[in-house]
Amino acid sequence: MRRDRYDNPLSTQSDAARDHYIRAVDLLLGGHAGISAAFQSAVDADPEFALAHVGLARGLQFEGKMADAKAAMSAAAATKGPRTDREDSHLAVFDLLISGRTAEAYAAIRTHVTEHPRDALVAQTCSSVFGLIGFSGKPGREPEILAYTTSLLPHYGEDWWCLSQHAFALCENGNQDAATTYIDRSLALNARNANGAHVRSHIYYESGAPELGIAYLTDWLKPYDRAGYLHGHLSWHAALWSLEQGDVDTMWQRIETDILPDVSQGLPINVLTDTASILYRAELAGVSVPREIWIAISRYASRFFPTTGIGFVDIHAALAHAMADDADALMRIVSEPNPVTGDLVTPVAEAYRAFAAQDWALGTELLVSAMGDHARLGGSRAQRDLLEFSLLGALLKQGKEDEARRLLALRRPGLVGTHAVHGLAAH
Ligand SMILES: [Fe+2]
Repeated sequence: MRRDRYDNPLSTQSDAARDHYIRAVDLLLGGHAGISAAFQSAVDADPEFALAHVGLARGLQFEGKMADAKAAMSAAAATKGPRTDREDSHLAVFDLLISGRTAEAYAAIRTHVTEHPRDALVAQTCSSVFGLIGFSGKPGREPEILAYTTSLLPHYGEDWWCLSQHAFALCENGNQDAATTYIDRSLALNARNANGAHVRSHIYYESGAPELGIAYLTDWLKPYDRAGYLHGHLSWHAALWSLEQGDVDTMWQRIETDILPDVSQGLPINVLTDTASILYRAELAGVSVPREIWIAISRYASRFFPTTGIGFVDIHAALAHAMADDADALMRIVSEPNPVTGDLVTPVAEAYRAFAAQDWALGTELLVSAMGDHARLGGSRAQRDLLEFSLLGALLKQGKEDEARRLLALRRPGLVGTHAVHGLAAH
């Protein structure tokens, strides 16, 4: 029987379909462009190969083409060839996931991964901050991801994908030394793995090493396909470091070339959150952001996220609406909170409304109420520094420099000395 790169049996009689499938899975795990096209080639080589259709659906989901993804899942279910138990389960979990039955999908995925830990395409759905655990909204989701990647490790050995995911989990749980060891092993096996480059960037960030980070990422990004699903987000990381170094021209160049909605090819969740985040962090660093850019990203948020859903998205949408002074759009987020993290989103949204109105004391009070466990909102530590630095900026506006410095040392000690907030590092 033919097998994939992880030695899972594949129900296809076609060598070409297998080869295209293996390449497609690696493109997905490595954050490269051309994922759905490669799965489509596998489908073309063997239209009865169910997992090729499932992979195509997953690739289309990464491209935000949900109607096409659902059609591909229907095509997978309609294939007539025999399937292994793993393939049946693989199809079933993606059917749940792509049809939006997330809670059922999560339960089915955990069972599937326990039985088939080397089914990387399924394992991948839970392995990073952008996965099902990461966006669960539950307390303790960061150590839960680390426990998950730790459970995968013995099954993968020296595999660049699994090593990179474990490194990310270690990084987000504050263990930068161990994270560095694992990401070095991953990148030694595959230096052009975008997920690996992303994790490497996070480790540089958490270690307070912007010079190393910007040098690494600037080189890494040069040959990276703009259609790779991490292109916009890696550009956000690079733009943050340019801002940190006071290189505002390069930051704007990154924003205008790679991050804004009309230039990025990323998913709306990344386009919205990365754009709103870098714009506000620029404002916090003392850079003036033209209001029309805020209006553009506010409209983008309303278009792609007309209702509340994931807390991480909701807070960035609220920020954009507040800065664009779109009271109605912001009120929709406050009045219709998502059921999982709405208790955090509401005070954050109201805090940004207060900050936009320069009511720094009220905004501080509101934001503080959400700081206890803002990890539930989702996103990485680096992304949630938007909240940390927003609070510091508001304290500085009230002349509370000592409090701001103590807070940074208490909550983000690795970033002491940062230039992320105007006036903070001057003392
Ligand atoms: Fe990131």
